[in-house]
Amino acid sequence: MKVSIIGAGNVGATCAQFIAMKGIVSEIVLLDIAEGLAAGKAMDLAQSMPALGFDTIIHPEVSDYSKVANSEVVVVTSGQPRKPGMSREELVAVNVSIVESVVKNAMKHAPNAVFVIVTNPLDTMTLVALKASGLPKNKIIGMGAMLDSNRFRYFLSQKLQKPINEIEAMVIGGHGDTTMIPVKELATYKGIPISELLTDEVFDEVIKETMVGGATLTKHLGTSAWYGPGAAVAELVDAIVNDKKKLLPNSVYLEGEFGIEGICIGVPCIIGKNGVEKIIQIKLTDADLVKLNASAKAINEVNGLI
Ligand code: APR
Repeated sequence: MKVSIIGAGNVGATCAQFIAMKGIVSEIVLLDIAEGLAAGKAMDLAQSMPALGFDTIIHPEVSDYSKVANSEVVVVTSGQPRKPGMSREELVAVNVSIVESVVKNAMKHAPNAVFVIVTNPLDTMTLVALKASGLPKNKIIGMGAMLDSNRFRYFLSQKLQKPINEIEAMVIGGHGDTTMIPVKELATYKGIPISELLTDEVFDEVIKETMVGGATLTKHLGTSAWYGPGAAVAELVDAIVNDKKKLLPNSVYLEGEFGIEGICIGVPCIIGKNGVEKIIQIKLTDADLVKLNASAKAINEVNGLI
């Protein structure tokens, strides 16, 4: 089993680390145009393997896409991250051409792979990848809502003072500070609706914290986050290569589901060896449907820039 990661920066290298630490593939290709970066990170990661007890082989590459051949999954993390004060949408101009060229190059050698897109603005870059690849829509998955859902679980666990793994929660919609929709009705602690445990006021505070969760980290770090994204990508890759049929929210191309068409946006999906095996059309409240439509409209506006 082989996974290729294009972009060996903060997010790409952390994806490689967590995928290796899950022991789910035998080989990882880490490719980056910056001379020496993939080589250094691959070597450093390989030297962590004995202590961790894994033996995943990590191949560094600069430009030779033939090494990507036979990958089950290609993860795209190449492109600029945001700086403090920036929105993800502001990255569109610089990242479109990067994602387009990377996907076209990878397609020449791994036309059967499932592509996982991480570059921002996520929902627009997922559409760019879909068009550049010419692949069927099930093979292109944008990873944003999984990360947002994990951030939602984090802020809920902080407020409730309960273990994060006993909390279930889901975010759908766009992967943007104003476009994501943390779904109140789906948030539970050990099966108990969290709306029974928090006041509306506190719950709304958690939702606000979740929506700017990435921006808060960017302010602290001076650049965007990597552990959360890397871990979510590793879970997604595991679901694909091991055909786990996991229910995970991801940005996928819609053709009428939830009344939306022609864009990629975060919705609950079953993820397995074919990528998106099924889109789960959960019943949303009228308020959340209004938010989802507004989110789709905002994504459409950014898509208009490509
Ligand atoms: N081919 C291969 N690699 C490229 C290309 C390209 N055409 N263009 C840029 N890169 C590489 C850069 O050399 C850099 O090493 O992409 C890497 C990006 O790494 P970082 O700058 O550390 O950015 P990172 O924090 O990893 O974020 C990458 O993921 O979460 C999103 O918003 C984030 O869009 C950003 C992306």
